This record gives sequence, structure tokens and C-alpha cells, in this order.
Amino acid sequence: MAETLREVFGEAAVAARVAELGREISAHYAAVGAADGDVVMVGVLKGALPFMADLLRALDFCPTLDFVRVASYGAGTSPGALKFLMDLETDIAGRHVLVVEDIVDTGRSLAYLLGMLQERSPASLKVCSLLDKAYRRVVDVAVDFVGFEAPPVFLVGYGMDVGERLRRLRGVYELVQ
Ligand code: IMP
Ligand code: MG
Repeated sequence: MAETLREVFGEAAVAARVAELGREISAHYAAVGAADGDVVMVGVLKGALPFMADLLRALDFCPTLDFVRVASYGAGTSPGALKFLMDLETDIAGRHVLVVEDIVDTGRSLAYLLGMLQERSPASLKVCSLLDKAYRRVVDVAVDFVGFEAPPVFLVGYGMDVGERLRRLRGVYELVQ
């Protein structure tokens, strides 16, 4: 199936912004005196995978890596109902947690995840998302490190999919019907 794609953030722009985020995040954790395993980078599968891999290599320290998967029950029907499909294996109590997302839209998934993580008493809890549709929030949740403000269109590439496809693209594209 062929879709029409319109480039929104090209490969070079994404790579440059990820490098900047790496510097910002490294500086933040240096400033709070956290290094390496004091920080747990939590990737939200599956969409955050390429971003997390590139962001990791843009850091000047080596965090512990872990992953979660969050899904909503039944697409669109009861949007508030979310569940963990996969939980962390790391004990985050007393550690600095950085959640890594591909995109934050309504904020529902992220708010649910942050609520679950906060109960485990991390030393700090921050969020880095490549893309942010802040104007779409229905739940008040802040992203600490934002790659780009995203336009109000459906985006694919750099981890984001349509039916599991197009995740491998190195830039971010609008899916044009
Ligand atoms: P939220 O709970 O509404 O913030 O939804 C966040 C999730 O919705 C993201 O992690 C993505 O999986 C998905 N999502 C939201 N907007 C887009 C988009 O433009 N393209 C692909 N996935 C999206
Ligand atoms: Mg996501």
C-alpha cells in the first residue's frame, strides 16, 4: 500500500535536535549530581525505540535502560481506561527516572504512566518526548524536554507507525490520505 508522506521534520533536523536534547538532559542530571545508574531511562514501547536509541548515544553518561508498554482498552471507546502491558524490571525507588516518549497528545497515557511511577518513590520523575501536541491535552501533564512542537496532523516515522509500518523512517512525516 502506498501512502503519500509530507516531510515535517527531516532526518537532519531530527538528528540535530536529538543531539541538543542529549546535551540539555546531560546538563540537567549533572546539575542534580546524578550519574550513570542513578538515572533510569524508561522507554515507552514501541514508538520511542528509535528516539531512545539515538538519545542514549547523545548523552554524556550511561543511564540504566528499562521499558514499559501502555495500552488503552478498546480503541476510542473508553479513552480513560489504560493498562500496563509490560512493566519495569528495575526498582526505581530513590533513582532519577526519565520517561522517553515519541509523542504526547491528549496526555492520557503519560498521566497514567507517571501516576504509576510516582507511587514507587523515584528521586525525580522527568519526561522527554520527541514531539508534543500540547494544544491537544485533555489531562494536564507537562513534558520537561520537548524535541519539537508537533502540528495537528497524524505523524509517522522515527518510531511512529500506521499499522506497524513506517517506524523505520529517519525523519517525521505527515501521513497524507
Ligand atoms: P495520548 O495518551 O493521547 O497522549 O497518546 C499518546 C500516544 O498516541 C502516543 O504514544 C502515540 O502512540 C499515539 N499518537 C498520538 N498522536 C500520534 C501521531 O500523530 N502519530 C502516531 N501516533 C500518535
Ligand atoms: Mg508513545
